[in-house]
Amino acid sequence: MIALDQISKSYDGVSRIIDNLSLEVLEGEILMVLGSSGCGKSTVLKMINRLIEPTEGRIFLDGKDIQHQDPIALRRSIGYVTQGIGLFPHLSIRENVSMVPRLLGWPEARINNRCRDLLELVHLSPEIHADRFPDELSGGQQQRVAVARALAADPAYLLMDEPFGALDAITRDSLQQEFLDLKQQLNKTIIFVTHDIVEAVTLGDRIAILHEGRLEQIGTSAEILENPATEFVQNLFAKSVKYWKDFKTIL
Ligand SMILES: Nc1ncnc2c1ncn2[C@@H]1O[C@H](COP(=O)(O)OP(=O)(O)O)[C@@H](O)[C@H]1O
Ligand SMILES: [Mg+2]
Repeated sequence: MIALDQISKSYDGVSRIIDNLSLEVLEGEILMVLGSSGCGKSTVLKMINRLIEPTEGRIFLDGKDIQHQDPIALRRSIGYVTQGIGLFPHLSIRENVSMVPRLLGWPEARINNRCRDLLELVHLSPEIHADRFPDELSGGQQQRVAVARALAADPAYLLMDEPFGALDAITRDSLQQEFLDLKQQLNKTIIFVTHDIVEAVTLGDRIAILHEGRLEQIGTSAEILENPATEFVQNLFAKSVKYWKDFKTIL
């Protein structure tokens, strides 16, 4: 379980990028963090893997305060798909995917086997793709590699920052579907950041709606649809009224 307990973040000591945020992500669930650009979504993920330190509050992984853990060891134990694709352009696909296992000192044979299994898991061909460089793959294929890389050391936790945000709609739809299949196979606790309400409803077990650094509501999409907690949430869902029929079929 991931637990955020009254987390705030301020850079200037006055305005709060994140304001008193508390939430729990349950074992094995996908929590979607939904909000518009600049509301603090990436900041939340970066605080969980300690790329950014909160100004106030505490974060627990499996009940342990991450403040007392070695940040590098912590980061290696959490899969992280950064915003934008974020592959290393000068490294081959194999080298990108193998990065964390290599840092963890796995033997070569185990790394190679893992790399092959992961590429197959995300529907890439190890024979065709492993020795290519990122710019020799399509955007969708690169995004698959980014997911494979995040899964490399089989972390219990996965943080995904708008992983499909930069893709065209058709590629995004098919990757979302693959992601749902993958979710069945992997028993991971996932925080998935998105600005796309349809993506949030489609992929999430629950949704946390963030607005200007504050949590507006957290719940299943059905709960939020039926009982919007604030005017902001009400408007957000009402604005998407053209998708309303889709929601009803998804729910
Ligand atoms: N190093 C920084 N110093 C000051 N403000 C920052 C810094 N990094 C991010 N911010 C601000 O924090 C806010 C939240 O950013 P971010 O978490 O990246 O938003 P999101 O991912 O939701 O688009 C933005 O207003 C951004 O400008
Ligand atoms: Mg962001």
